[in-house]
Amino acid sequence: MQTRTLGTDLTVSAVGLGCMGFSHAYGAPTDEAEATRRIRRAYDLGYTFFDTAEVYGTAGDPHINESLVGKALADVKSHVVIATKFGLRFDRESGTVPLPLVPDSRPEAIRRSVEGSLRRLGVDHIDLYFQHRIDPCMEPEEVAGAMADLIREGKITHWGISEAKEDYLRRAHAICPVTAVQNRYSMMARRCERLFPVLEELGVGLVAFSPMANGFLTGRYGKGERFDAATDYRAAMPQFTDEAVDQNAALLQLLRDMAAEKHATPAQISLAWMLCKKPWIVPIPGTRKEERMAENAGAAGVALTPGEVRALDEALDHMKMSAVFGGTPMRA
Ligand SMILES: NC(=O)c1ccc[n+]([C@@H]2O[C@H](COP(=O)([O-])OP(=O)(O)OC[C@H]3O[C@@H](n4cnc5c(N)ncnc54)[C@H](OP(=O)(O)O)[C@@H]3O)[C@@H](O)[C@H]2O)c1
Repeated sequence: MQTRTLGTDLTVSAVGLGCMGFSHAYGAPTDEAEATRRIRRAYDLGYTFFDTAEVYGTAGDPHINESLVGKALADVKSHVVIATKFGLRFDRESGTVPLPLVPDSRPEAIRRSVEGSLRRLGVDHIDLYFQHRIDPCMEPEEVAGAMADLIREGKITHWGISEAKEDYLRRAHAICPVTAVQNRYSMMARRCERLFPVLEELGVGLVAFSPMANGFLTGRYGKGERFDAATDYRAAMPQFTDEAVDQNAALLQLLRDMAAEKHATPAQISLAWMLCKKPWIVPIPGTRKEERMAENAGAAGVALTPGEVRALDEALDHMKMSAVFGGTPMRA
């Protein structure tokens, strides 16, 4: 697969693999041995960028996703970039399911997190360490200072911010250069385009999470789709209701038309659209299936001209769409 550079010097495959779904948020977790086999298979297919987090896990093992990723990539770890995240913890007292996540980027919490992630990933340094959510109790300078310390100690080599906002990013970047932000970005969720000028100015990359609107943009989920409310967050996502399928008919048709023109799939068009916008955007679609890993990686080879990207944007600007899932329950 082609590669891209995040920040000044972090080389990753143009499409990364979001590993969350193997153990979290998209139904029953995949069997451990099978999950590690499939994550390793992604490397054979050309992926060199893998995304996980401290809080991706199961009820039985809330951190298992990092262990799976570490095990799967153990023999190729010097050839891949693994991103993981700190700064959220489960609110176990809430009594709600799924457990709400609480921002926590206190220095002592960061220390605990980094040691746990290094151990579970089986690495001596973390390639890209994202603050998962901004902690309203911590100034960006304090978090960036903690990152600078971890870089000096050799425990991480690059850092980033997830769901970053401009002021926070600027202040953090001034203390310790940020390599990438990781924000929700898809044809249905374009808020982060407002950040593009500042990303360009600072030389910060964008790792796009939920780039296919949680799978909706693949066009493979229609009316009557039912998800297990206990394990699958899609059960509560507004884009997967029967009404939403009707409301999004024009969007899905737009994807199908462009897919037919480019001999591609709607999933590939939804990724190629962002890949062709800026050379510093790297989507991390999540899938547990090998054929879909190959399909999504194929998006890096789909060329849309600037005129075609503009035409898609123009159509999206004026199109009626349903609401789209906006985030995990979080107590601020
Ligand atoms: N920073 C953050 O706060 C944050 C938040 C959410 C996610 N993330 C990261 O971003 C990654 C991707 O986001 P996401 O998983 O939420 O959303 P996504 O990549 O937009 O969609 C994933 C869903 O689409 C399905 N899918 C993937 N490729 C497909 C294809 N070619 N055809 C049909 N269905 C397909 C997957 O199902 P199957 O597995 O069954 O294929 C899965 O249910 C996550 O894995 C995680 O690493 C980060």
